Amino acid sequence: MPTIVHVMGARPNFMKVAPVHRALAALPPAGWRTPLRQVLVHTGQHYSANLSDVFIRQLGLPEPDVNLGVGSGTHAEQTGAIMVAFEKVLADVRPDLVVVVGDVNSTIACALTARKLGVPVAHVEAGLRSFDESMPEEINRVLTDAISDLLFTTEESGNENLWRTGVERHKIHFVGNTMIDSLLLQSEAAAQRDTLGALGLAAGDAARGQNGATARPFALLTLHRPSNVDRRETLAPILEGVARLSERLPVVFPLHPRTAARSREFGLEGHFEPLARVARRGAGLGACDPVDYLDMLNMMRHAALVLTDSGGVQEETTFLGTPCLTLRANTERPVTVSRGTNVLVGQDMGRMQREADKILSGRGKKGETPDLWDGKAGARIAAVLADRLG
Ligand code: UD1
Repeated sequence: MPTIVHVMGARPNFMKVAPVHRALAALPPAGWRTPLRQVLVHTGQHYSANLSDVFIRQLGLPEPDVNLGVGSGTHAEQTGAIMVAFEKVLADVRPDLVVVVGDVNSTIACALTARKLGVPVAHVEAGLRSFDESMPEEINRVLTDAISDLLFTTEESGNENLWRTGVERHKIHFVGNTMIDSLLLQSEAAAQRDTLGALGLAAGDAARGQNGATARPFALLTLHRPSNVDRRETLAPILEGVARLSERLPVVFPLHPRTAARSREFGLEGHFEPLARVARRGAGLGACDPVDYLDMLNMMRHAALVLTDSGGVQEETTFLGTPCLTLRANTERPVTVSRGTNVLVGQDMGRMQREADKILSGRGKKGETPDLWDGKAGARIAAVLADRLG
């Protein structure tokens, strides 16, 4: 029986794994000589319920078959622990193929372990490059692509980056974006949620259940990159800049645990206040716990603008047509800038204010949907995998 192991570890992985798992499960049995067995491995890189379990549930993924339970640590500790534990799983399960997604430490750790045991590796979201090797994710991307047998790309730049490094063309498959598959699959469930009412951001009772078709204008901020949050000299000016913007409209700030810890450590918590108070007043920078997938989709859909340093959020806002200001000097997802709503403002808060002014006065950039971001990436990947293993 052909066996595929799917690896997931951190929050941005689940929405990429779910559509591939779903599409493989839906393949007609005739496509296979024998039934396909899918094994879900969670490395445990993210373990908090609000960064992991809730996403697995809302995305319709089954419970992981194995959880390696590695938890947090330095890069070497985390990567090494995943490799040691995953090697045992591979010896036990003996898969025909391992599918890894994205660019987190779990991605490179499992790809490397599998390849060393001679198990072919497929990389979903291959070829993306920020060309900024101070980002841990960039190292993970370059190394994972170098050892993968099948490379599934989300945008043209990914194909070009892989061609340039000499990857054989037959290994590269331009399939579109599995994250957009998940967004589309879950958009109806999200629409059932009264996220904005619950946050106090709906315009009134009439908005209940309609998710902010009549929402009051608000901005959404997500921040977790080490280059932004790990030093006081960068985190303080960003929070000050956003706090200034929040005098004009409330800014919702779901706090990533890394950012929460650094804000405490640097004594910067005075820059934000509880979201409920901000929502009542209609201004201010309002922090809350990390939100689940469906609430996040609703917030991105209805925000007047999004400020972020996340990779996935740049793509999701482009698809939703929501203006996005990225607090990074570069992006590994350039199609969100060339075709989408994304504008890179780096850590320049003056630039951020000017771009926000344009957006809030209706002069913001209009985007379009990148090629093949059509909800069918998972099915395209499943077809290639079936062809390979069937
Ligand atoms: C990781 C990924 C990053 C991804 C991000 C999404 C790498 C190198 N980084 O960064 O690419 O964008 O996930 O969130 O793989 N913590 C918890 N609960 C958890 C996990 C972590 O409270 O479930 C806390 C711990 O204090 C930990 C800190 O958050 O030390 C940072 O977590 P870590 O997994 O090291 O990296 P992220 O910043 O989440």
